[in-house]
Amino acid sequence: MNTHRDTVHAQFDARATDYLSSSVHAAGPDLRRAVECVAGLAPCPQRALDLGCGAGHLSFALAPWVGSVCALDPSPAMLAQVAAQAAARGLDNIETVRAGAESLPFADASVDLVATRYSAHHWTALDTAIDEIGRVLAPGGHLLLIDLEAPADALVDTHLQAIELLRDRSHVRNRSDAEWRALLQRAGVELLALERWDTRLEFASWIARMRTPPAHAAVIRALLDSAPSEVREALRVEPCGSFHVSTALWWARRPAA
Ligand SMILES: C[S@@+](CC[C@H](N)C(=O)[O-])C[C@H]1O[C@@H](n2cnc3c(N)ncnc32)[C@H](O)[C@@H]1O
Repeated sequence: MNTHRDTVHAQFDARATDYLSSSVHAAGPDLRRAVECVAGLAPCPQRALDLGCGAGHLSFALAPWVGSVCALDPSPAMLAQVAAQAAARGLDNIETVRAGAESLPFADASVDLVATRYSAHHWTALDTAIDEIGRVLAPGGHLLLIDLEAPADALVDTHLQAIELLRDRSHVRNRSDAEWRALLQRAGVELLALERWDTRLEFASWIARMRTPPAHAAVIRALLDSAPSEVREALRVEPCGSFHVSTALWWARRPAA
């Protein structure tokens, strides 16, 4: 019987090149804003972590603005992609480490910036990961968290989580702003800013990126087509099956000691 970890490997090891070329991941206003947040820091963070780095887009964007980036991911294929791309781009301050967010191989208070983008919805032991972030983050250090945001409305949320799981077996849960605020408090950081963007998930490429089995894709379409009007309106479902969600960026700081 497969564990969730096996599922993550199965889902991501084979898809590293798809994530490198994905326009949702390679660009976007959230990535630009992440750079603005970090580039504005003085002094510049010496040690940064990118948790669930995937094909490395956040690591590549932050590398010019920090001393070094440690790109972490449980998927060896993703890490190989990051190392190759970092070399191709002449970014010599990125190292890769195979690890999950729930067990960070770093000393207490040794990191100036913890960043993560589009990964936390895969983490099973989220409280443990949050405790780990709180443990490694130095006083005065920053946390940059980007992920799709769960809708506050329970009906819309249930539909979104259902189609996310049908599309990708490694999906655990998108969290709402209220849930993230409680988790940030748990990590011992104070929220400095929250920003949101509308993200259009184009159905064909969204399905293709995770190589969703056709039977699951058909159920997703059926769910979206038969969803109540409140859900269709909230997700702005289009005739082609594409729909809209909110991407959010939480920018937070651990108070100086
Ligand atoms: C959508 S990709 C990340 C995209 C990337 N951060 C970017 O900005 O383009 C999600 C990544 O989360 C990783 N992941 C899954 N479970 C994880 C965990 N428990 N801890 C850290 N990373 C995890 C997956 O292996 C995958 O590479």
